[in-house]
Amino acid sequence: MSTPHLVKTVPPGERGLKVLRRSNELCSPSLSHPYPLVVSRAEGCYVEDVDGNRFLDFGVGAWTVGLGYCHPEVVEAVKAQAERLIHYPQDYGYTELYADLVERLVSLPPWRFRRRGLLTSSGSEAVEAAMKMARWHTRRPKILAFTGSWHGSTAGAMSVSSRSSVERRHFYIPAQEAVLAPYPNCLECPFGAEAGECDMQCLNFLEEQVLRRLLPPEEAAAIIIEPVQAETLVQVPERFMKGLRGLSDEHGIPLILDECWVGLGRTGRWLAAERWNLEADCVCLSRGLSSGLPLGALLSRESLMDWEAGCHQSPYGGNPLSCAAALATLDVMEGEHLVGNASTQGLKLLRMLRELCESSEILANARGLGLAVAVDVVHEGGAGRLARDLMLTCFRRGLIVSLGGSSTLRFTPPLCVSAEEVETAYGVFEESVRDLESAL
Ligand SMILES: Cc1ncc(COP(=O)(O)O)c(C=O)c1O
Repeated sequence: MSTPHLVKTVPPGERGLKVLRRSNELCSPSLSHPYPLVVSRAEGCYVEDVDGNRFLDFGVGAWTVGLGYCHPEVVEAVKAQAERLIHYPQDYGYTELYADLVERLVSLPPWRFRRRGLLTSSGSEAVEAAMKMARWHTRRPKILAFTGSWHGSTAGAMSVSSRSSVERRHFYIPAQEAVLAPYPNCLECPFGAEAGECDMQCLNFLEEQVLRRLLPPEEAAAIIIEPVQAETLVQVPERFMKGLRGLSDEHGIPLILDECWVGLGRTGRWLAAERWNLEADCVCLSRGLSSGLPLGALLSRESLMDWEAGCHQSPYGGNPLSCAAALATLDVMEGEHLVGNASTQGLKLLRMLRELCESSEILANARGLGLAVAVDVVHEGGAGRLARDLMLTCFRRGLIVSLGGSSTLRFTPPLCVSAEEVETAYGVFEESVRDLESAL
C-alpha cells in the first residue's frame, strides 16, 4: 500500500453498499458515520474498504490506532498473548503485564511526583476514575471544567463535557456537581481579546468570579482540562496553564489533565503537558496507547491515589491483550523514534497548510502540535457545510480527514507517517480546496 487508490470513482462499491444498508437497518442509529467507509483491512497509514478502495487515513481511525495500523510487532505480541491468556480480571488476580505496563507508563516522562497507575477499558472510564478518586481523596463534591471540552460518553464524564448539544440533549445529565468556566480559546477569545495582547481575562475570571462566587475552593475536588481541545485543536496558552497550576496548588485542588486524545506521542512529546513544562496531579490517557485495542490509563500522584481496596473496580481494565499491544506499541514508538517523527512530520504539514491559508479564500487558522494539526474553513455562506463538502471531496479522492467543531478540519495521521505520505495527503487536500473554491 503506497498511494490512495480508488477502484470505484465514488465509494462505496457494491459490497460496501450492502454492509451500509444492513448496518443502517440493524444497528443503533446513535452511531454517526461521516463518510461511507466500510473497512476491510488496514496497514500503516492506509485503510482498505471491502471493495478494494485504498484510503490514506489522516482522520479519526488514525488517531485511535496511534502509531499506525497493524504494526507487525504489535500483531505478533497480541497473537502470542492470545495463545497464553486472553483475559483475567485484575480485581481477582494479578498479571505481570499489568504491572509491566503501569511501570512503563509511570516512568515515561521525567515526572517529579512519584506515581501510581490504574488501567481502564476506555478513556471515559479513566476520566470517571480520576474524578471519583479526587472526590474520595479530597472529600469535596465539585469538579471545575471548561466549556467546549469532551471528556467521554459516560454520565460522569458527560457532566464535565459540553462539546455539542446533540450529545447532551434529552439525557438529563446530572451536572449540578460540575462548574464550567470558559476555555481559554485564543482563536475566539470568550472575552473578545486579541491573542497575545490580553490581560488573561480568562484566568482573572476563574479567580475573581468562578472561585470567589460560584465554586468555593473548599468544595472543589478537581480541575479537569484538555491541554489541547480534541474537537478543534485549540491549545491552552502557556500563561493560563501556569496560572491554573498556581490556583490548583494554592487551593489544594488536584489538577487532572485529560490527554486521552493527544497523549502518548501525538504532540511530538510523550505527553502534551511536557510542552508547557507542567506536571499535573493526574493524567488520563487512552487513544494511542495500544494500537487500537481497548485501553485507558489514569496516572496519578501517589499521594492522591490513596483510595481503599474495592472502591473502584474495572474487570476489563488492563486486559492482557490490550496490555501486550500497549507494551509492543511503546517498544515500537521508542525503537522507531516515532515521537520525534510526529514533531517533524507535523511541522512539515503545518508549514504547508499555513502557506495554503495565505492563498486560499476558504481556509484560516492553520495550527497544530506535532501530528495534531487543524485548519478552519471560513465562508460567509456557511462554513460548516463547506467544511463537510471539503471532507467528502477529500474522501472521494482517497484521503480521510476528520471534521471537528463547526468547521474545523483535523489532520491526525498515525505517528509512523512518512514525509511522502504527508506530501501525498497535502496534494489531495490542496486539489480539493481549489476545486471547491472554483465552484463557489
Ligand atoms: C479528550 C478526551 N477525553 C476522553 C475521551 C473518551 O475516551 P473513550 O472514547 O476512549 O472513552 C475522549 C474521546 O475521544 C477524548 O477525546
